[in-house]
Amino acid sequence: MCGIIGVLGNHEVSPLLVESLKRLEYRGYDSAGIATVNNGHLDRRRAVGKLVNLSDLLVHEPLAGKSGIGHTRWATHGAATAGNAHPHRSGPVAVVHNGIIENFRELRAELAEAGISPETETDTETVALLTRMFMDRGMGPKEAAVEALGRLEGAFALLWLFDGEDDLMIAARKGSPLAIGHGDGEMFVGSDAIALAPMTDRITYLEEGDYAFVTRAGAEIFDASGRRANRDEQRIDLGQAQVEKGGYKHFMAKEIAEQPVVLADALRHYLPKSGLNMPDELDFSNIDRIILIACGTAHYACAVAKYWFEEFARIPCEIDVASEFRYREPPLSARSLAIFVSQSGETADTLAALRYCAENVAKTVAVVNVPSSSIAREADIALPILAGIEVGVASTKAFTAQLLVLAVMALKAGRDRGQIDDEILSAHTEALRSLPGLLNQAMSLSEPIAKLAESLAEAQDILFLGRGPMYPLALEGALKLKEISYIHAEGYASGELKHGPIALIDRSVPVIVMAPHDRLFDKTVSNMQEVMARHGMVLLASDAKGLQIAGDGTWAQIQLPEIAEPFAPILYAVPAQLLAYHTAVAKGTDVDQPRNLAKSVTVE
Ligand code: F6R
Repeated sequence: MCGIIGVLGNHEVSPLLVESLKRLEYRGYDSAGIATVNNGHLDRRRAVGKLVNLSDLLVHEPLAGKSGIGHTRWATHGAATAGNAHPHRSGPVAVVHNGIIENFRELRAELAEAGISPETETDTETVALLTRMFMDRGMGPKEAAVEALGRLEGAFALLWLFDGEDDLMIAARKGSPLAIGHGDGEMFVGSDAIALAPMTDRITYLEEGDYAFVTRAGAEIFDASGRRANRDEQRIDLGQAQVEKGGYKHFMAKEIAEQPVVLADALRHYLPKSGLNMPDELDFSNIDRIILIACGTAHYACAVAKYWFEEFARIPCEIDVASEFRYREPPLSARSLAIFVSQSGETADTLAALRYCAENVAKTVAVVNVPSSSIAREADIALPILAGIEVGVASTKAFTAQLLVLAVMALKAGRDRGQIDDEILSAHTEALRSLPGLLNQAMSLSEPIAKLAESLAEAQDILFLGRGPMYPLALEGALKLKEISYIHAEGYASGELKHGPIALIDRSVPVIVMAPHDRLFDKTVSNMQEVMARHGMVLLASDAKGLQIAGDGTWAQIQLPEIAEPFAPILYAVPAQLLAYHTAVAKGTDVDQPRNLAKSVTVE
């Protein structure tokens, strides 16, 4: 995580750096800092906490200069203090870094032997110290940075700035993305194209192992072996990069409300009137197995999709969290299809899992929100979820859009394998097409849910229950609630409750049951009765029929419209998100940037 930015400009860069860091704050907000070179003089400012603290500091202690680098931090090594904030400096060298230098302890020991001691707890400082050590031994900045780079292990994106060098930045990528932006007589470097959006739409992505010497005249790029490399300059469509709250109190509220429109857009693309619109090369006919890999909320989208692939296509389907999958090194079959789901397209573990599969499965497919992301670029096939930029750290519209794309894929798999006939296919596509309207109706629950949330905000623990494809939704509901309200929450398969978690139930534990009136409804109601028999506070989210049958004795009810059984998780995501949102608002937490989290997790 962490966001980095660099500018060799023609005007004062401090305001530009802060503005760009604002766009990168989704990558972390533990601290922020900038360094500039002004007539050869290198200086820096750093502040703990949100970017606004750095802006305040710059009002009192401005930093002049037309060349500069900046950083917004998600702490990995060392607490979130001003001392540990980037840029890190040693003598003439300033460095900003995203990622982890895994061998920093060994490097520190080596530096100690040379009489050089660190002043911070961070791994990043080692890069500045090493570079400086090489400069002290007579190397120029370029040679010293490349020498230091050769010593680093781990996954990182790095940017160097030097005292006495008004027209030089050095950028390096290994494992974490880095984009070089081209202006007119100005050059930029950023963690992503969005950070560079106000300055330029002409982008060159560094490839794995690349490093670049950037001056106002352009960028000289070298590959990992030190050979000059040609990397294409692309024009990026940054139309969607301008994001505002649009009258909502939080981005999360806006993004929840956008879901009917987002799904309508995705439906227009993937389910036009003419039928399923999926790339021809995405062919499930001869596949022996599907593997779905992701992290967090995206993993829960995969967990729902497993039910769909198995039901519609009768194909074995495995799911795993990327951080487990990649190190388990599971045996793969050349006839398997591996699907990687990621909003950001930059999640380090998911990217590593994709690389592990790349040579060993029939096809890799990325389901991503950022089409220019590493995961999208490295997969054989990339399917955009078309959700538009998601700013709130807690994923909402990306989740439902991921589900929609996966649902259409599962229908295609069913058709390719001759498991669903035209009649069933058309019933399912009609059901999917009804989703925007149904989600719109669900949005009207916002106010009553806000009232319920006032009580939920008092709870210490909350349980979510679901069965079948609603089980992963229970997990997602619990994740959403805990990440923004900081209330402990767990999701369980309804049938699992009596195997342990029921011991938690008493009058003070709200139990949120997500149960449309489906085939398994009666079974879920029995589990709900077991909770009520122990005085648990049950909140039942169901449709009119479900509430009529089982609403008696519940603490509260949420009524949703009826929906075709397989796709209920897409609709019920809305009340789950609204419950989390309003509970967090009632508790007064930072909804869009909850503590300890970051939007793009580029460290493993
Ligand atoms: C939770 C949330 C995270 C992400 C996870 C994966 O609300 O947003 O759990 O889903 O970090 O991120 P992406 O989808 O960018 O790979």
